[in-house]
Amino acid sequence: MNVLAIETSCDETAVSLLSCSGTELSARFTVLGNALLSQIDIHREYGGVFPALAKREHAKNLVPLLAACLEEAELLHEDTQALVEPLHESLSVLLEREPGLAEQFFAFIKETEVPDIDCIAVTSGPGLAPALWVGVNFAKALALAWDKPLIAVNHMEGHMLSALAQSDGTTLSIQNVELPLLGLLISGGHTELVSMNEWLSYELIGQTLDDAVGEAYDKVARMLGLPYPGGPEISKFAEAARARSQGETATQLPRPMIREENCDFSFSGLKTAVLYLLKKEPELSQARKEEVAKEFEDAVADVLFAKTTRALRETRARSLVLGGGVSANTNIRRVFAERLSIEYPEVALHLPAPAFTTDNAVMIGMAGYYHALRQDFADPATLSADGNLSLV
Ligand code: KG4
Ligand code: ZN
Repeated sequence: MNVLAIETSCDETAVSLLSCSGTELSARFTVLGNALLSQIDIHREYGGVFPALAKREHAKNLVPLLAACLEEAELLHEDTQALVEPLHESLSVLLEREPGLAEQFFAFIKETEVPDIDCIAVTSGPGLAPALWVGVNFAKALALAWDKPLIAVNHMEGHMLSALAQSDGTTLSIQNVELPLLGLLISGGHTELVSMNEWLSYELIGQTLDDAVGEAYDKVARMLGLPYPGGPEISKFAEAARARSQGETATQLPRPMIREENCDFSFSGLKTAVLYLLKKEPELSQARKEEVAKEFEDAVADVLFAKTTRALRETRARSLVLGGGVSANTNIRRVFAERLSIEYPEVALHLPAPAFTTDNAVMIGMAGYYHALRQDFADPATLSADGNLSLV
């Protein structure tokens, strides 16, 4: 089955084409085409993602990325042209709120053969609503023009499932995952522990009561004068401090909620603690900034690990998967790999390949395939983007 996938939930515009086979228990994916454009450089000067700009950039870039993806996949040999004229009005209505996309869409669809795809998967949430809508409307228009079924994918499900994939160079496979599976999903907008007792059936075990962990990284980075996105910057600073010394630093930051008997998180107090520290010491040297970054990272990892292991005990999970942008973090990966193998050697740890930690459309295609196997198609008439879409 060939799945075309579209992702526009935040500041990455991505289109992928996957050839998928196998069952829920053992699935294989080959990436035939993959085109992605990051808007990070555009948003950096605003210190974060600016939704209206994200929407504009997605609208501008979706058609060129789709064209590049199809060209790479070499799947344009059905030798049929979409019959656009009878659909022109419906397509215009679908794209009327997407200036910059509609014109490109019509030009593209008229000159492009219908690709050999079986369905179109699109991120319908969570994320920035204006950004999500561009992708959803684009997917609806393609589904109508090419007469293909549509699949709505939850972005966090994409992060979670793609993190289970193993690569042999050309093929990605997801197999031998022992359930229950616990997912620690950590990104700019989310921090949650989700358990999957049966395939694709989720239960929320815990979540942040305030800031997401990625948000805390970004805010602390800004306080230290580092650019957006702050996660990789903090990580570099913290690693520099670790390279100098393995011992305790003079700085002590709190581990919020670590002793509370639940699986919830709170990161705003940690962020505020950094703020107070910086007020007391306004002129931090580079070395002190690196120390603060390290202590912040240590506090985050301690809390994440403590709450995750509590959730492992509660759910009796056999596997643990980390997903979302923050799962790229070197320290979090190291802490989980080292401590889990000592304290919970019976639990299989799945860490996402680096390419799957940042937003991409391959993960949307993978999750989409599982829904296609269940014939879980979306009704184009009612499908909407939902910035707060939940997995459970
Ligand atoms: O999943 P993602 O790309 O977008 C959302 O869905 O939110 O996650 C973005 C978040 C940002 O807050 C960014 O600072 C953080 O992931 N991030 C990191 C690292 N790389 C990205 N945080 C810590 N360490 C990293 N290496
Ligand atoms: Zn994400």
